[in-house]
Amino acid sequence: MSKSISDKVVRNQSANTPFSTVLEKSLSRRAVTRGSLGAAMALMAGFSLTACGGDNDPVVAPTDPVPPVTPEPVPELKLGFESLANAMTEACIVPAGYTAHVLGAWGTPLNDNAAAWDRNGNNSSNDLLNSTGMHHDGMHYFPIDGSSTEGLLVVNHEYIDEFALHPAGPTKVAGKRPAEEVRKEINAHGVAVMHLRKEGTNWNIVLNSKYNRRFTSGTPMRLAGPVGGTDWVKTPFSPNGTQVRGTNNNCGNGTTPWGTYITAEENWAACFVNTGTRPAHQQRVGVQSGRGRYEWETAAADVSEVNGEFARFNVTASGADALSDWRNEVNGFGYLVEIDPYDPSSIATKRTAMGRFAHEGAAYGNPVEGQPLAFYSGDDSRFEYVYRFVSEAVWDPKDATRSDRLNVGAKYLDKGTLYVARFNDDGSGEWVALASATVGKDGKTLGAEFGSLDAILINTRGAADFVGATPMDRPEWTAVHPTNGDVYLTLTNNTSRNATTGTNAANPRLNNANGHIIRWHDASGSNAFRWDIFVFGAPVDGDADTNRSSLSALNQLASPDGLAFDNRGIMWIQTDNGLDGGRNNDVAKATNDQMLAVIPKPMSESTGTGPVINASNQAELRRFFVGPNEAEVTGIAFTPDHTSIFLNIQHPGNWPAYGTNDATASASGTVRPRSSTVVIQKIDGTPVGV
Ligand code: FEO
Ligand code: CA
Ligand code: CA
Repeated sequence: MSKSISDKVVRNQSANTPFSTVLEKSLSRRAVTRGSLGAAMALMAGFSLTACGGDNDPVVAPTDPVPPVTPEPVPELKLGFESLANAMTEACIVPAGYTAHVLGAWGTPLNDNAAAWDRNGNNSSNDLLNSTGMHHDGMHYFPIDGSSTEGLLVVNHEYIDEFALHPAGPTKVAGKRPAEEVRKEINAHGVAVMHLRKEGTNWNIVLNSKYNRRFTSGTPMRLAGPVGGTDWVKTPFSPNGTQVRGTNNNCGNGTTPWGTYITAEENWAACFVNTGTRPAHQQRVGVQSGRGRYEWETAAADVSEVNGEFARFNVTASGADALSDWRNEVNGFGYLVEIDPYDPSSIATKRTAMGRFAHEGAAYGNPVEGQPLAFYSGDDSRFEYVYRFVSEAVWDPKDATRSDRLNVGAKYLDKGTLYVARFNDDGSGEWVALASATVGKDGKTLGAEFGSLDAILINTRGAADFVGATPMDRPEWTAVHPTNGDVYLTLTNNTSRNATTGTNAANPRLNNANGHIIRWHDASGSNAFRWDIFVFGAPVDGDADTNRSSLSALNQLASPDGLAFDNRGIMWIQTDNGLDGGRNNDVAKATNDQMLAVIPKPMSESTGTGPVINASNQAELRRFFVGPNEAEVTGIAFTPDHTSIFLNIQHPGNWPAYGTNDATASASGTVRPRSSTVVIQKIDGTPVGV
């Protein structure tokens, strides 16, 4: 995402945490030497709720575990490929013995209402409404009847490249964006549900399938949870505040144990403009004061405009009340949005209890019967925070197989407590509740400062400032180990961390151009956790302070972003290192963005000092994939049998080649670039990665 829409302004003025000296007490606890990272994945025996609800068809009832009388020895899980070299080419690179195919590049028709993609950029807004969108990001594979050859791939479309989308870029007539162009841009955003079928070794979209759907920045959605139906979100479109049109800037994703998809609204704030006095909560998230990112608001009053479809992006209070202007429109954005891909008639639902900020994604903690569920979500901006939502309802495994999935979502996601993380310098941490009774600055409660829970949630960042959360180096994706429950978080980079802001133990490097990955383990039934740093991104030739994980040319990385565990326990790390749109750090000067794999041992086995990945074991972090020039590698999904994995190539410069679906082919000459999904398989058809 960083190429053009990331919010580079430091909006956190709270000066939270000990911004003083480099405190690394936590790191000093850990041994320099660490044994093999070898797998501890034998724990997969028996029933795993993660496996059942997360990746298998939720309509199939799980069977009870039947422990073998004589346990079979479980082979050690090992990565079965050699680490790739650095590369800067116009194509995707996979290890020997693998294939990579282009699937669903932007503008690929989902049904016969869309014309075929036009390489001159002449597709209409209606074509985009019925095709895949642009700038693919988070995604998930939902199997049909548990299949690894037929399923629903749900893909986020984060933002747009206006120059690739239109024949010659965006235009204006007399200061106004043409309505058709704006609609095309709105329809290129959002989420796509694609019904896929594998035929031979090729994955294809099932054209005209009832499952194929687009959610755009104009699709009506429900507002549920504490903010839904309040005065905050009453608009001329939804006078009772229960609906809003569209989801915007959908970056990372999540899933639920009951088989739904979660799409995360990240850099939505800059699509809105307020030319009047911006309230504190609008300033805190970055609502614009001059013009919206794409100036969609300038198409207002076009003769074709329907119910303020363009005017709503101008949230200036200009009328007599909230039903006379669009002042509240922006309050309907900034949420995690739940989608039921298996029900084509379902309405996407914004779960406001989970907080309002620049959500990167959402990963859930491993469910335990009779215990509340936890979801983790980073707020990707400089010095922002990481959050945990804990459900009020306790987990009932029968909910994993219910068919009224959005009702299950309401049960777990509309009532609960949102927490924000405080990372202490001694390796401990705590989750601080963003609840009315929590005491913050000057001994005052959040309730006294902000009002009721809906007001706290609308200004989630402000509430987190108030209770002294730890400002982080741009929290991106979270991922939870499928059996031991350790939670990992990518902190992509933060070049604004300087001598004035200082460091803290969880974000210990000044001018953090390379980023790092932190992990923690929540204490059961408590708000306490322990944390350590898993790996520091760095160039191979970085000095000792920079290359703290002793990375080599075969695994140097920077700006970790996408992050996911597969059910076997392999952790996949994706990078978005086109730092501010150029090759501005040493890793970016050596290699394109990439995906790496590693098999982490549990935190409970950690001892001693230093990051988990260090000189003794760095070779076990292996580069599996390198993307084409200028592209970010993001989004990851797996078939249940792991024979196909899917990733996304976002904002490539000159890829994919015309006339082939081979993702490893370079274009001859110049092509109109297309973000796309890439399917990776082994030529021998066995599981990927091992
Ligand atoms: Fe859209 Fe934080 O990446
Ligand atoms: Ca990023
Ligand atoms: Ca991202």
